Amino acid sequence: MSPTTWLVTGANRGIGLELVKQLLAVPTNLVVAASRNPDKATALAELKSSAKGTLHLVQLDVSDFDNVRALPKQLEPILGATGLDYLISNAGIAIFDTAFTLDPDALLNVVRTNAAGPALLSQVVLPFLEKAPTKKILHISSTAGSIASVAQIPPAFASNASYPISKAALNMLAYKQKVERPDLTVITMCPGWVQTDMGGADAQLKPEESVAGIIKVITSVTNADSGKYLRQNGEEIPW
Ligand SMILES: NC(=O)c1ccc[n+]([C@@H]2O[C@H](COP(=O)([O-])OP(=O)(O)OC[C@H]3O[C@@H](n4cnc5c(N)ncnc54)[C@H](OP(=O)(O)O)[C@@H]3O)[C@@H](O)[C@H]2O)c1
Repeated sequence: MSPTTWLVTGANRGIGLELVKQLLAVPTNLVVAASRNPDKATALAELKSSAKGTLHLVQLDVSDFDNVRALPKQLEPILGATGLDYLISNAGIAIFDTAFTLDPDALLNVVRTNAAGPALLSQVVLPFLEKAPTKKILHISSTAGSIASVAQIPPAFASNASYPISKAALNMLAYKQKVERPDLTVITMCPGWVQTDMGGADAQLKPEESVAGIIKVITSVTNADSGKYLRQNGEEIPW
């Protein structure tokens, strides 16, 4: 039987690391875990000893477009025969600025990592997605990218600009991917406010709670859900 195959970016810490950990608890899962520096990704490599599924490490910086374009060379020996069932585009960065003080180069840098990188990555893994039966792309976005939710954002974060702009762009990317390729199932999702380096210690959810929800939702959605903007508990987020 063919394994269910997953590619997770930003897999060395935070939500990405927990995603790989939970996916590897399933013996039939084959997980390709991408990180910028696999040699230094010790927590990720340590998952191998307890894994029931199969773990492969690859090197990927989503903001380095040449690096992204070269990814198929690393994927071919792992996924060439099976294809890729699930792309989880999780890697992301956050900065704090405001609309009238932002540095445009800093804005472009965030958009490069959070939206342009995932766009190119989706293009380069498309032949692998086409080869496998599931054909699902999950973009890890944020409620920060929702215009309709700005009023619910805590005041300390409400004026933040570059990060929400990048996630709004990512959301639109997901929708455009769904429109262009109705055979794929593309979801953009907020993982909740999660206790990671990015989310901080005061966040509401532990990584294991968020990730259990993420996996439940992405494995349950069908092609009829493609283009939806969802929370990790499955609720729809208003655009
Ligand atoms: N935590 C939250 O509350 C929260 C809320 C909403 C959305 N999110 C989203 O959830 C995703 C994961 O966030 P997190 O909380 O796990 O953040 P995190 O703890 O800061 O981890 C970010 C991950 O992304 C990787 N990364 C950053 N830039 C990269 C690049 N250019 N190429 C490849 N990998 C890169 C990091 O790798 P390095 O170790 O090499 O830097 C790290 O593995 C992000 O997309 C974030 O926007 C998080």
